[in-house]
Amino acid sequence: MTASAGLASHARLSRLTDDVGLLYGADWNPEQWHPDVWREDVALMRAAGVNLVTVGVFSWATLEPRPGRYELDWLDRVVDLAADHGILVDLATPTASPPPWLGTRWPGTRAVTADGVRLSHGSRNHFCPSSPHYRERALSVARVLAARYGAHPGVRMWHVGNEYGQVCFCEHCADAFRAWLRERHGTLDELNRAWGTTFWSQRYDEWTQVLPPRAAPYLINPTQRLDHRRFASDQLLALYREQRDVIREHAPGVPVTTNLMGFHHPTDYWRWAPHLDVVADDVYGDPADPADVVRVALQHDLARGLAGGRPWLVMEQAAGAVSWRPHNVPKTAAQLRLDSLRAVARGADGSCFFQWRASVVGAERFHSALVPHAGPDTALHRAVVAHGAELARLRPVVGARVPARTALVVDWASWWAAEEPGGPSDRLRVLPQLLAYYRPLWAAGIGVDVVPPGADLDAYDLVVAPQLFLVDDAHVPGLRRVVERGGVLLLGPFSGVTDQDAHVRTGRFPAPFADLVGGSGEEHVPLAAAGVRVRSALLGDGQVHDWAERLRVDDGEALATVDGGDLDGCPLVLRRRHTGGGEGWYVGALLAQDGVAAVVRACLDAAGVAGPVGVRADPDVEVVRRGDVVFCLNASDRPRAVELDTVCGTPGAPWHDLLTDTAVAGRVPLPPHGALALIERTR
Ligand code: GAL
Repeated sequence: MTASAGLASHARLSRLTDDVGLLYGADWNPEQWHPDVWREDVALMRAAGVNLVTVGVFSWATLEPRPGRYELDWLDRVVDLAADHGILVDLATPTASPPPWLGTRWPGTRAVTADGVRLSHGSRNHFCPSSPHYRERALSVARVLAARYGAHPGVRMWHVGNEYGQVCFCEHCADAFRAWLRERHGTLDELNRAWGTTFWSQRYDEWTQVLPPRAAPYLINPTQRLDHRRFASDQLLALYREQRDVIREHAPGVPVTTNLMGFHHPTDYWRWAPHLDVVADDVYGDPADPADVVRVALQHDLARGLAGGRPWLVMEQAAGAVSWRPHNVPKTAAQLRLDSLRAVARGADGSCFFQWRASVVGAERFHSALVPHAGPDTALHRAVVAHGAELARLRPVVGARVPARTALVVDWASWWAAEEPGGPSDRLRVLPQLLAYYRPLWAAGIGVDVVPPGADLDAYDLVVAPQLFLVDDAHVPGLRRVVERGGVLLLGPFSGVTDQDAHVRTGRFPAPFADLVGGSGEEHVPLAAAGVRVRSALLGDGQVHDWAERLRVDDGEALATVDGGDLDGCPLVLRRRHTGGGEGWYVGALLAQDGVAAVVRACLDAAGVAGPVGVRADPDVEVVRRGDVVFCLNASDRPRAVELDTVCGTPGAPWHDLLTDTAVAGRVPLPPHGALALIERTR
């Protein structure tokens, strides 16, 4: 399955934005408050420009205090109140947090860990995704809500569950895993082949012997673990889909979604994307870490990729501090605004927060909200109001695309397989590699689409796969075609190692691509502390640490070579230029960030890719074009300035800043964490 299947449905966000422009809102949890507070809430929402609230995410015990006894009057009032104030409702099914009665009456609805501990209520997300009772009760409450509110004109979106990600190892899940395996592998013989069960005498001769990877004495079969991760993601998707289908029966045409979490390890979102009417993402950048903005930008580009390039929605972000880090540095008012604008710049048609009003009870009392404990007369809430007004002025970006000629390939199965214990080194981690190759693209203001390895890559001049350890046979032709049709393909270390079953591909690596990159390898070489010396006109001479590979040049070129030691003379960066203009690159080392940047810049030159805007002159200023609007975001806490002629091109053009609704020209100051949203005025 590729991300492109079913993407037309993402156009559905426009059913909301056509009416109200960019969406601005929050999770609203009125069940924690007296109805008098609800009225104050909606008045404050109006004043702040809030036009969307997510209601009911954790209200199961309030909605159904006893099995089958529903109390919905309060929700009727809440939904009507929002609708009367022109605030759209994103109504949630409350199924992430079952009430205590469910797990007490039916203990099998509670998840079991890999070491056999059955989880208790008292927190949230303690359900077993395969428990028939859980699923039946979850569907019942979803059906009751859908029947009651499906035709309500104020309910404009549905939100199923919350941040799916739980994994369970109980007997129900073992049965469901076996059914999933039968579907994938057909016969037990094929399962034995795929899992390589000749190793350590693991051969199965009855399906009932096949188990999820529960606690075991030593390393567990890697393909069993890989298939179990695939299964666990699909099982959660099945839960989402069955509730979505019930909602669709009662609310045809109203978009249904759930909140994703970016690079969330347990869930393969490429498989989820076709089933989401709107891609909605939860984004929690760390305001204490100035470098985290790059990771957040990458997460936004992933969300846009999941939406097939169409607009997506930030479903949750913090307004100030979170309460789940050990030391919760709050965002400043400027960061609240800047983070929200970064998402809009990268394709979001809405910016929502967790949560509207700060809770005074429960585990998240110290999490920030749009209305703090101290109330609306606070710096934070004033920033919320001001931001609502400027989002309303960004209507020209609604629906607009972010242009990109560069693709970054990301694959969950490969990520899972590459980090399986029992590999050559635990120092080669997938997300840091993705970031290392993305960072120079971000720094150069290059538009990047994040895509799955099976995507149609024909629109891209440069395709970067920072780490594609596992390569599905089905994806090989599409990746090869990049070079064959004259594009540039850059592969990072430890790529092209296994097939889809995580079986090592024999021969020289990167096995399916060695001829494209003009060289090949025979040994992965985790390095001792001193590392190896490398000579390179491209990277500059220096040291490589942690990871190298024993490569040789076949019919390409070496752009960096080991100097001394056992790997003396081995190339670490390979390139082959093909007739027709295509280039294949392979980096067989964990290069320092400068080295990765030099390689990426050379690939951009080879592909003829420049930023969608002019020169990005200042590394602190993130420049992103979306449609006709150029966003300049000062990611630093220092004052900066933007030379419009350099950044935006078209010297002397009359520019207008949508955020302040003023004309700007020449050198425009950007305060710490400041932002501009520039549009060229017609002369
Ligand atoms: C999210 C979750 C919210 C809230 C928030 C706090 O992961 O969906 O319910 O817990 O984190 O940051």
